[in-house]
Amino acid sequence: MKETVLSARKLCKSFAANGVQNHVLTGIDLDVYKGDLTVVMGASGSGKSTLLYALSGMDRATSGEVIYNDKDLVKLSEKELTLLRRKDFGFVFQKMHLVSNMTLFENVVVPAYLDKSVPSGETDKKAKELFDTMGISEVKDHLPSQCSGGEQQRCAIIRAVISQPSVLFADEPTGALNRRNTIEVLDLLTKLNQNGQSVFMVTHDVRAAVRATRLIYIEDGTISGEMTMPPFEAEKEKSRETQVNAWLSSMQW
Ligand SMILES: Nc1ncnc2c1ncn2[C@@H]1O[C@H](COP(=O)(O)OP(=O)(O)OP(=O)(O)O)[C@@H](O)[C@H]1O
Ligand SMILES: [Mg+2]
Repeated sequence: MKETVLSARKLCKSFAANGVQNHVLTGIDLDVYKGDLTVVMGASGSGKSTLLYALSGMDRATSGEVIYNDKDLVKLSEKELTLLRRKDFGFVFQKMHLVSNMTLFENVVVPAYLDKSVPSGETDKKAKELFDTMGISEVKDHLPSQCSGGEQQRCAIIRAVISQPSVLFADEPTGALNRRNTIEVLDLLTKLNQNGQSVFMVTHDVRAAVRATRLIYIEDGTISGEMTMPPFEAEKEKSRETQVNAWLSSMQW
């Protein structure tokens, strides 16, 4: 039995625009499991990012519950939510949001220093290890502008996981990358996941979807299908891609 890290119950999210309610999420029931690399796919506008924001406390659901550690995120105060996002969750987006006049290494450690419960020496040590194991230690003292998009995104991922979040949320992390950089970033996410990091990723990219241990399809704000897969192995990528493509066709992708 897999352990649940996050649960959504009857989750709804609506936006009001020009006096009209746009019901984007219309009653999502979902358990996110510890250790999974969960990937959400679906047409543009189906509500994937909205779901990621609601589950991660970046935005508040209109109704329903999001249970994390016996707390309902929908009911937390802004202050409690901010703290929870900072301490328990990691975030990666299409844009890396790195500080341009700081090196990759500084981009990782400076925000981590804000957590006063961890000595800065320990943060530096952990950051060095992550740069090493993730294969970008040779550019750690470069500015973002001196690095490839893949190196920048891998840095953003290291920044997001250095505090050991319960869940790493990623919204289209390869959306702005070329093929080679996409593979580098996906290899890193896969490695992190296989070392125990729970990942919740939204993507349009089949190359990202093949990395999933669980795939979820969203259609008009509800879950219309899901599929589980064993952990990714590079040798089986082709057959996995065939399997994911067949599943996506069955979902009318
Ligand atoms: N802050 C907002 N205010 C008003 N409407 C919004 C807001 N955020 C999202 N929406 C609407 O909600 C719907 C779903 O948006 P969402 O960004 O979740 O889609 P998505 O599945 O992530 O799409 P994409 O694949 O294009 O990123 C869209 O119709 C969008 O216009
Ligand atoms: Mg989106």
